Amino acid sequence: MKIVIPGGTGQVGTILNRALSAAGHEVVVLTRRPAHEREVAWDGRTWGPWAEEIDGSDVVINLAGRSVSCRYTPANLRDMMDSRVHSTEIVGEAIAAAARPPGVWLQMSTATVYAHRFDAPNDEATGVIGGSEPDVPDYWSYSVEIARAWERAQDVADTPHTRKVALRSAMVMSPDRGGVFDVLLRLARLGLGGPVAGGGQYVSWIHDRDFVRAVEFLVERDDLRGPVNLAAPRPLPQRAFMRELRSAWGIPVGLPATRAMAELGAFALRTDTELLLKSRRVVPGRLLAEGFDFAYADWPEAAGDLVRRRRGDRDRAGAEGALVSGSS
Ligand SMILES: NC(=O)c1ccc[n+]([C@@H]2O[C@H](COP(=O)([O-])OP(=O)(O)OC[C@H]3O[C@@H](n4cnc5c(N)ncnc54)[C@H](OP(=O)(O)O)[C@@H]3O)[C@@H](O)[C@H]2O)c1
Repeated sequence: MKIVIPGGTGQVGTILNRALSAAGHEVVVLTRRPAHEREVAWDGRTWGPWAEEIDGSDVVINLAGRSVSCRYTPANLRDMMDSRVHSTEIVGEAIAAAARPPGVWLQMSTATVYAHRFDAPNDEATGVIGGSEPDVPDYWSYSVEIARAWERAQDVADTPHTRKVALRSAMVMSPDRGGVFDVLLRLARLGLGGPVAGGGQYVSWIHDRDFVRAVEFLVERDDLRGPVNLAAPRPLPQRAFMRELRSAWGIPVGLPATRAMAELGAFALRTDTELLLKSRRVVPGRLLAEGFDFAYADWPEAAGDLVRRRRGDRDRAGAEGALVSGSS
């Protein structure tokens, strides 16, 4: 198949590009800064020759959007909104105008669309959409508003010949440098992998191989459309999540942090505490009901696999370094 991935240069795009190319598909990435073969320029807002890549393609997977790992200042929040909504609108226009439109458009969304809650998990049918929870900072509701506007932009696109699916994805865990697992592992190795603000908030996650398999499943199943949660079936409280990560790497202790300490840490890392403190209790109701079988349903096994692959990469890099210095 020909698969076009707008915004495919980031963490999730790298995972998908690697797996889908290895499976023999032709993958084209739309990026603001093309640097490699099969990367095509676009700006995420306006029409251009890039639209020709979409005409005649089989699948479009739009991932574009300003990174959420930043301080949630008004300007950054506005950028997060605009980059997602505008890129989705223009992708929709390109699909609508195509002489041979793709069969399916998978549009990235986020598990953040659901409410901050502890009492019950959110699936697609019974889950509570966020935005009106008491006792949470006001700007958390803006993150939900971004997610809803993002999905709405896909929903209203007039693309009658293309099936539309919104990927309400939890954090995608891969051993790659710079990804969310890398950041959590680094914190844990610094001794900071303890409970944050009590650690009762739920962490939803999905292993990278299951993320790719779920995408393939949604491409193949031409009866599925609309929002689909991409998350492992058993999210767990942050304190247990970090304990299992420490145990997988062999780190004996993780210092607990208060909410105020988390604020300071997030400020230092130029990121935001919503990513740590919001209880994202999201489960894959539709995927399970449709027979999707998770290879990594539980975090201890997933963390063990990610740590093994991460250590494998490190050992390989070390061995290559030794070979280079040995031959020089
Ligand atoms: N990572 C996760 O665990 C996760 C979970 C749920 C949802 N998501 C969502 O999935 C998408 C991909 O995630 P990711 O982790 O791969 O993100 P990422 O690493 O930040 O990559 C996003 C890509 O979007 C493009 N982009 C950034 N700002 C843009 C703008 N103003 N206009 C157009 N394109 C822009 C960038 O491509 P160029 O700079 O090459 O143009 C970038 O490579 C994001 O929208 C993210 O919110 C991610």
